[in-house]
Amino acid sequence: MVHRLSRLNTPLLLSSVAFVAGAQEARLVILPDGGNLIRPVGANIVLTCKGEVPDPELISNLRWLGPDGRDLPNGDSGEADNSRISSEELVSDVGRILFIKGLQEADSGKYTCSAVYTSSQRLEAHVNLTTIVGITWEDAPTEQSAIFGQPYKVRCVVRANPPATIDWQKNGVGFTTNNHYVIENDGVLIREVSLEDDTYFTCRARVQTTGQLEDRRIRVEVFIPPEFIREPVNTSIVEGEGGFMECQASGKPDPVYTWLDRNNQNLNLNRERFIVDEQTGRLTIIDAKRTDEGEIKCLVENRAGKIEKTAFLKVIMKPVVVEYLNASGIMGREVSLTCKASGDPLPEVTFLKEGTLIPYTIGVQNSDDRIIVDTSREGEYAQARLVIRDLMRSDDGLYACIAKNNGGNYTKNGHITVEFPPSFALTPMREAWSWDNHLVNLTCRAESIPNATISWFLNGRNLENDYNILTNAFNGESTITVTPIDLSYYGTYRCLAMNIHGKDEHAIELREARAPGPLLQTKFETITATTITFNFIGPMDNGGLPIEAFAVQYKLAGQVWEEKPLQRVWPVDIPYILENLEPQTIYSFRFAAKNQVGYGEWSREETHTMPKRAAPEEPYIIAKTENKVVSTPYPDRYELLWSAPPNNGEPIDYFEVAYYPVRNTSAGLIEAGQLVRTQVPYPANVRFEMKNLKADTIYRIELRAHNVIGFSAPAEILLRTAKDAAAVELGTTTTALPRETASPSQPQSKTIPYVIIGVIVAILVFIALIIDVSCYFVNKKGLIYIICNRSGRNKGSGRKGSNKNSALMDKDEHKALRFAGGKLHKNPVTARWPTNNPHNTGLLATDDRSIGRGPTSREPHQPLNRRFEPLHSDI
Ligand SMILES: *[C@@H]1O[C@H](CO)[C@@H](O)[C@H](O)[C@H]1NC(C)=O
Ligand SMILES: *[C@@H]1O[C@H](CO)[C@@H](O)[C@H](O)[C@H]1NC(C)=O
Ligand SMILES: *[C@@H]1O[C@H](CO)[C@@H](O)[C@H](O)[C@H]1NC(C)=O
Ligand SMILES: *[C@@H]1O[C@H](CO)[C@@H](O)[C@H](O)[C@H]1NC(C)=O
Ligand SMILES: *[C@@H]1O[C@H](CO)[C@@H](O)[C@H](O)[C@H]1NC(C)=O
Ligand SMILES: *[C@@H]1O[C@H](CO)[C@@H](O)[C@H](O)[C@H]1NC(C)=O
Ligand SMILES: *[C@@H]1O[C@H](CO)[C@@H](O)[C@H](O)[C@H]1NC(C)=O
Repeated sequence: MVHRLSRLNTPLLLSSVAFVAGAQEARLVILPDGGNLIRPVGANIVLTCKGEVPDPELISNLRWLGPDGRDLPNGDSGEADNSRISSEELVSDVGRILFIKGLQEADSGKYTCSAVYTSSQRLEAHVNLTTIVGITWEDAPTEQSAIFGQPYKVRCVVRANPPATIDWQKNGVGFTTNNHYVIENDGVLIREVSLEDDTYFTCRARVQTTGQLEDRRIRVEVFIPPEFIREPVNTSIVEGEGGFMECQASGKPDPVYTWLDRNNQNLNLNRERFIVDEQTGRLTIIDAKRTDEGEIKCLVENRAGKIEKTAFLKVIMKPVVVEYLNASGIMGREVSLTCKASGDPLPEVTFLKEGTLIPYTIGVQNSDDRIIVDTSREGEYAQARLVIRDLMRSDDGLYACIAKNNGGNYTKNGHITVEFPPSFALTPMREAWSWDNHLVNLTCRAESIPNATISWFLNGRNLENDYNILTNAFNGESTITVTPIDLSYYGTYRCLAMNIHGKDEHAIELREARAPGPLLQTKFETITATTITFNFIGPMDNGGLPIEAFAVQYKLAGQVWEEKPLQRVWPVDIPYILENLEPQTIYSFRFAAKNQVGYGEWSREETHTMPKRAAPEEPYIIAKTENKVVSTPYPDRYELLWSAPPNNGEPIDYFEVAYYPVRNTSAGLIEAGQLVRTQVPYPANVRFEMKNLKADTIYRIELRAHNVIGFSAPAEILLRTAKDAAAVELGTTTTALPRETASPSQPQSKTIPYVIIGVIVAILVFIALIIDVSCYFVNKKGLIYIICNRSGRNKGSGRKGSNKNSALMDKDEHKALRFAGGKLHKNPVTARWPTNNPHNTGLLATDDRSIGRGPTSREPHQPLNRRFEPLHSDI
C-alpha cells in the first residue's frame, strides 16, 4: 500500500505533464523499438512496454501476452520466480518489462503488450521476436569408422536456423555426389567403403543470411574384417608330448584370437597345459591328454567382424606290447608266439628275429615258408601270431615283437626254445694222452635242451664210483679227471648223454705218452769263432705230445759225457744259437728233443773245431727299408740303430759309422759330398744320431763293427732325407746348405770324366796287381811278396796282422781314393772298405754293385772244415 501511494505521487505529476504535452490519443510503446527482433537462441532479452497516455492513472490491466495469446507469468507476485520468462511492472514509469532468459527456438513469435485505458479503450503493442539458431554440430563425430566393402554414411547433421548449406571435402578436395558418394542431408553415403576412404572428410556448413561459416574434420577409419591367412589344420599329438595348432588371420585392426576346446570352453583363460597367444593365434599344448582329443575351434575377431574355423586334434596313444610270452617247442614240431599290443591308432605288429635286420612280413615268409605271421584285431588290441613249423635248432632264439604306430614303436623280446635230443657235434676231443700217474682231463660237451645227463664208461664199466676218476659237470659239459695208476686206465672212454628227447654217445681214446724219438738230423747252419747256429730236423715220433724244446749237450773233445757236460735248451721256434764257445777249440755235441714226458734219446756225438778268432761279423742295421732305401721324416737328421753281431772271439770295442751324400745318376749312385766317419764305442750304444744332414738328399751309410782283429764287413743302407718344406712344418732347424747335390747340370759334366778316370785307374791297378802276383810266383818280388814275407814273420797271429794292415791301409787308401776323384765308383763299397774277411779280399772283389749286401755274406752251408784250411788258400 505504501508503495502504491508513493508511486502515485510521481505519476500524478508526470501524467499531467504528458497530458499537457501530447494531447493526442493514448498508446503503448515497446522498447527496443522496431517491431521485429531477431535474437540468437540462448540469449537473454528484455522487452519494455510503456504506456504513452495523457493520464497514466487511467491505465489499467497492463500485461504481456505470449505468442500463444496467453498471459505470461507475472514475476511481481512471485508466481514465476524461477520461470525463464516473466514480466514485472516498470517502477519508474507506467509500463511493464518482459524478461526472457536463455532464449529458445520455441520462444519466437509475436509478443503482445496490452492494457485498458479509461476503462474502455483497449491499447495494444506488438513485437515480432524471431529466434535464430547458429550452426550447431548435431551429429557429426570427428572420428568415425567404416567397414571395408560395406556402405557407410559419414554422418554430419547440422542444425541452423535459418538452415545452413552443407558441402563436403575429402582430403581438402571438394566433391559432390558421384557413383561412389551420395551426399545426403545427414551425411555422405559411401556406397562401398574402400581403403581410400580411410582418410579425413570435411563437412562445411554456411548460412547465407547470417554469414556464418563452420567446418568439421571427420577422421574416417576403415576397418577390415578378419580373413584367414592360415586356418587351423587337423593335428596329431602323441600322448604325454607337446604340440601346437596355428590360426592366423589378417584384418584391421589386428584381430584377436580365441581357442575353444571340444566343449566350447575358452582355452585362453589360463587353462593348464594350454597356452594361447592372442596376438599370433598360436595354441600350444603341453603334455597332451587323451581327453584333449576333439574338435578345436579358432575364433578370430576384430571391430569389423568375426570368423572361426574348427580342426580336429588327435591324441595319439603310443603303442605298448601288453602281452608276449615265451614259447618252447620240440625239434620237428610247431611252435607259436603271440604278441598283443595297444595303441591309438591301433599299432601294426611284426616280429624280428634277433640277429636279422628285416622284420617278418604278414603271411608266409618268402625266405622260409615254415614261418607264418598273421595279425588280427582283438577288441582294442592289435594281435600278431608267429608260427614256425618243422622246428629246427636254429629257430631257437629271441624274437622281438615290434608294435608301431605314428606315435612311435615298442619292442619286447620273447624267446623260442627249441628242445632237441643230445648231440656231441661240438665235442672235438677224440684222444688224450697221459703217462706215469699224470692227471688227464677228458671232456664231453653235449648239446641238448633240456640239459642232458652225462655218464662215463671205460670198456663198458660205469665210472661213477671209480676212486681214480673225478667227475665234474658244468654247463652241459662233463669232465672226468683220470689218474692212470695202471695200464687198465688207458683205453676207450665213452660218454653217454641222455634227455627226454633222446641220447648220444662219444668215444675218447686215452693213450700213454712217451718221450720223443731220436732227431733225424742236426744242421750246423752258421758258425763263427764263438757261436754256432743249429737247425733241427725231426724227430719222426713225438711220443704222442708236441715237442717243447731242443737241447744240446757239449764238452771239450776228450772229456767223457758222464762228467757233467754243458747243456743248452731252446724252446721251439726261437733261433737255436749256442754262444760263448772258445775259438780254435774242438768240441763234441749231442742233441735231443723234449716233450712234456721228457727228453728223447741223445743223438750220436758230433765233433767240431771252432774257427780261429777274427774280426766281428757284419752288424745288422735295424731300419724299415724299401728297395734298400730308408726314408726319414726329418730333413736334417736320422737315428741309425743296429744290433751287435757275433764278435768272433774278440770283444767288439766300437762301431764305425760312415756316411756321405750320393747322387742318383743314370750310371748309378755316385759320391756327391763330404764323408763323415764316427766311432761309436761298445759295449754301450748301438745307435747313432746323424745330424746336419742335407734335405732331400740320398746318403749312403756304412756300418762296421770293430774288434782288436779288425773291422767286420760293412752293413750298408741308403737314407733319403725329407724335403725342406717338411722342415718348416715340423718346426725343425734346417741346415740350408747350398744344394750342390741337387743342381742337375753340374754333376752331369763332372760325373762322366770321373767315371772314365775311375775305370782307367781301376784297370791300371788291376794290371799292376796281376803283374805283382805273377812277380810273386815267378820272381819272388813285388809288393805282395814283401807283404807276405812280412806277415810270414809273425806267423800264428797272421790273420790278425793282415786285418790290422787292411784297417790301417783303409784310412790312407780311403783318402787317396777320395782325392783321386771317385775313380772306384763302380764299386764304392769294396773301394772304401778293404775287407778283413778271409774269404773275400776287398780289392779283388767281383764287381758287386748291389747295395746293402756286404761282400762277405757267407754261404749258409759252407763245409765246416773249409775254415781250417791254410790262410793262403783264401787269397
Ligand atoms: C508482425 O508480423 C506480422 C506477420 O508476420 C505482421 O502482420 C505485423 O505487421 C508485424 N508486426 C510488426 C509490428 O511489424
Ligand atoms: C579333420 O578331421 C576330421 C575328423 O577326424 C575329418 O572329418 C576331416 O575330414 C579332417 N580334415 C582334413 C582336412 O583332413
Ligand atoms: C623305433 O623307434 C626308435 C626311436 O624311438 C627308432 O630309432 C627305431 O628305428 C624305431 N624302430 C622301428 C622298427 O621303427
Ligand atoms: C622269456 O625268455 C627271456 C630270454 O630267455 C627271459 O629273459 C624272459 O624272462 C622270459 N620271459 C618269461 C615271461 O618267461
Ligand atoms: C683238469 O680240470 C680241472 C678242473 O676242470 C683243472 O683244475 C685241472 O687243471 C685240469 N687238469 C689238466 C691236467 O688239464
Ligand atoms: C642247463 O645248461 C645251461 C647251460 O647250457 C645252464 O645255464 C642251465 O643252468 C642248465 N640247467 C639245468 C636245469 O641244469
Ligand atoms: C735312382 O734312379 C733310378 C731311375 O731314376 C730309380 O729307379 C732308383 O730307384 C733311384 N735310386 C734311388 C736310391 O733313389
